[in-house]
Amino acid sequence: MRYVFITGTSRGLGKALLNEFKGDRIISLSRSEVDSDVQLFKTFHLDLKNESELEQESSKIFSSVTPDEGDEVFLINNAGTVEPVQSVENIDAAGYLDSYKVNVLAPALLIKAFIDEYKNQNITKRILTVSSGAAVKATEGWAAYCSSKAAVNMISDVVRLESSRHGTHIESATFRPGVIDTDMQTAIRSSDPEQFPSIEKFKEYKASEQLIPPEKVAQTLKTVITAENFKDQGHYDISEYIQ
Ligand SMILES: NC(=O)c1ccc[n+]([C@@H]2O[C@H](COP(=O)([O-])OP(=O)(O)OC[C@H]3O[C@@H](n4cnc5c(N)ncnc54)[C@H](OP(=O)(O)O)[C@@H]3O)[C@@H](O)[C@H]2O)c1
Repeated sequence: MRYVFITGTSRGLGKALLNEFKGDRIISLSRSEVDSDVQLFKTFHLDLKNESELEQESSKIFSSVTPDEGDEVFLINNAGTVEPVQSVENIDAAGYLDSYKVNVLAPALLIKAFIDEYKNQNITKRILTVSSGAAVKATEGWAAYCSSKAAVNMISDVVRLESSRHGTHIESATFRPGVIDTDMQTAIRSSDPEQFPSIEKFKEYKASEQLIPPEKVAQTLKTVITAENFKDQGHYDISEYIQ
């Protein structure tokens, strides 16, 4: 049996992942309602900006399933936000905090609860956190986004080291999904060009049909997380799988 915890299942990549894992027991974590034909094993509604609620609920989320020896449990940290798209001189404390809460703190707290729940269980334990090329490439207007994705990459790497030393067999990696045709790209294309000078490039990606359909990204993510040698790599990039 495979249990798959997925955040941000209401739209975009997260929604496409539901279809990809429909043969498994999906535990959906979303802020908004999920409108999907895929049967969900459990659903939890959470605003990932609410870190106290997340801290309180996260152990309940992972203890809501009882895997047997030999089962697989996956956590896919998918939910994310690109906002605020503003130059550094214009981002205020609330802008950074909201970004970091969703993109860094929420995955970190979910990873913590996942480790707490499963560290001593003889099951396959995998965490895949959706990151971005922005983690390693500075882009004007994306100070909060770039720095948040860089931070979550590091958290995943630290988990790998600690898991190895503690012998918990928790396998953690990040995934760069490329430029996906989702609402996030719609938001990026409607940014203020003053704040986001790369806007024309992103409009061109859409116009020339270079955006990757979320279904294709979801398929690739599944290939990554189900691979026998998943634990060998800390960071996966969709460009290694599709042209
Ligand atoms: N699209 C791209 O080109 C691209 C490129 C690189 C990386 N990524 C990464 O891929 C992942 C998926 O992105 P996407 O393109 O599918 O984005 P999307 O279409 O904007 O969807 C974002 C998802 O995250 C959820 N979310 C955002 N803030 C939340 C909060 N405070 N609490 C709970 N859920 C929240 C949204 O829920 P609501 O419906 O409730 O808002 C939604 O389900 C993200 O981590 C993103 O950074 C995307």
